[in-house]
Amino acid sequence: MDYKALAQKYGTPLYVYDFDEISRNYNKIKTAFKARKSIIAYAVKANSNLSLLKHLANLGSGADCVSIGEIKRALLAGIPNYKIIFSGVGKRDDEIAEALEKDILFINIESEAELFRVEEIAAKLGKQARISVRVNPNIDPLTHPYISTGLSENKFGVAIDTAKKLYLKAKSSPYLNPVGIHFHIGSQLTELAPIKEASAIVAELTRALQKIDIDIKFFDVGGGLGIRYKDEKTIEPYDYAQAILSTLSGTDMTIICEPGRFIVGNAGVFLTSVLYEKETGSKRFIIVDGGMNDLLRPSLYNAYHEVEVVGKSEDASLADVVGPVCESGDFFAKDRLLPKTEHGDIVVVKSAGAYGFVMSSNYNTRPRPAEVAIEGGEDRLIRERESFEYLIEKEVRFMV
Ligand code: LLP
Repeated sequence: MDYKALAQKYGTPLYVYDFDEISRNYNKIKTAFKARKSIIAYAVKANSNLSLLKHLANLGSGADCVSIGEIKRALLAGIPNYKIIFSGVGKRDDEIAEALEKDILFINIESEAELFRVEEIAAKLGKQARISVRVNPNIDPLTHPYISTGLSENKFGVAIDTAKKLYLKAKSSPYLNPVGIHFHIGSQLTELAPIKEASAIVAELTRALQKIDIDIKFFDVGGGLGIRYKDEKTIEPYDYAQAILSTLSGTDMTIICEPGRFIVGNAGVFLTSVLYEKETGSKRFIIVDGGMNDLLRPSLYNAYHEVEVVGKSEDASLADVVGPVCESGDFFAKDRLLPKTEHGDIVVVKSAGAYGFVMSSNYNTRPRPAEVAIEGGEDRLIRERESFEYLIEKEVRFMV
């Protein structure tokens, strides 16, 4: 990919996504589950650009959404309501009502209080809410603590015993229809054993529920499949699917899988231009025009992203790549061997397709970057760079 040309054409900072790679990644997971009926419900939170969602809709993808905003995006992009799931630990009343009105596939319930709330709202609307309970299998996913979610110390889901109680309650309510069961133990998973263990625990609960005539049709295994940022060993989708399917013998359920990062993470890069180089005596800094407001992962999680200076490799020495934001935590890379750069050189920050643009902000009154898609060798703009006027639009009319 000619990053220099793209940077010239669209300006920097810039997100670039390879839609063909997204198709390949989607198809890898879909094929891995081919032994069963399955819905790949892409985790919209990873990258919610409408054109990207439309691309996935065309491939047959469903959507895992965590706000009514994400649900509306998915619908707008052409993902059918019967492939949309509503997850999240804190859904508002109006979000639940709208999700019910839009007749999505089901709502993932994360607490007893939420089950009652959904029942009440469904009753008011004269509807029956299809639900699934998010079970917390209390398994350590062996990933970064910030993105681990399947331990009882995390805020997500309910314990097995509570789950049973919720299913009994749901079965007895005319306004609730328990159709699914759900777990998600964490993100950026690189070990198979915890997934298999979690799946086995939840499968056992499912069998017990089915024995008492609770007709669970959907086994939702969450997302979390990890990708390679540096040198991580990753899980093959086929092995992932086999590990899960091996726990489900004797059942006939549709598998739902909610991958986000696996589909888009390595299909995206972040391009930023070198502004200056600076040496402080003990350190060398490459100062670029992108900042932590554009791509937060290094600052927030100390996440590793490979960086490369386009077309240069000579005279390499250790350097930090840092942004212009007024925070010491504003960096993309630390102590990397990087060539001597000049004003205008393009730095590529790799693996930036997931949790990149979606976690960006306007901190320091910085307009968010443009986004570009590459498909079949052609590039096209899929989100305009924000302008200063756009940033202040919600404030100006209140100025006195
Ligand atoms: N399903 C549920 C219920 C989730 O909570 C998540 C992610 C996913 C699916 C998708 O997980 P994935 O396949 O993308 O790993 N901002 C963090 C990641 C947060 C993930 C939150 N939940 C990061 O930049 O690493």
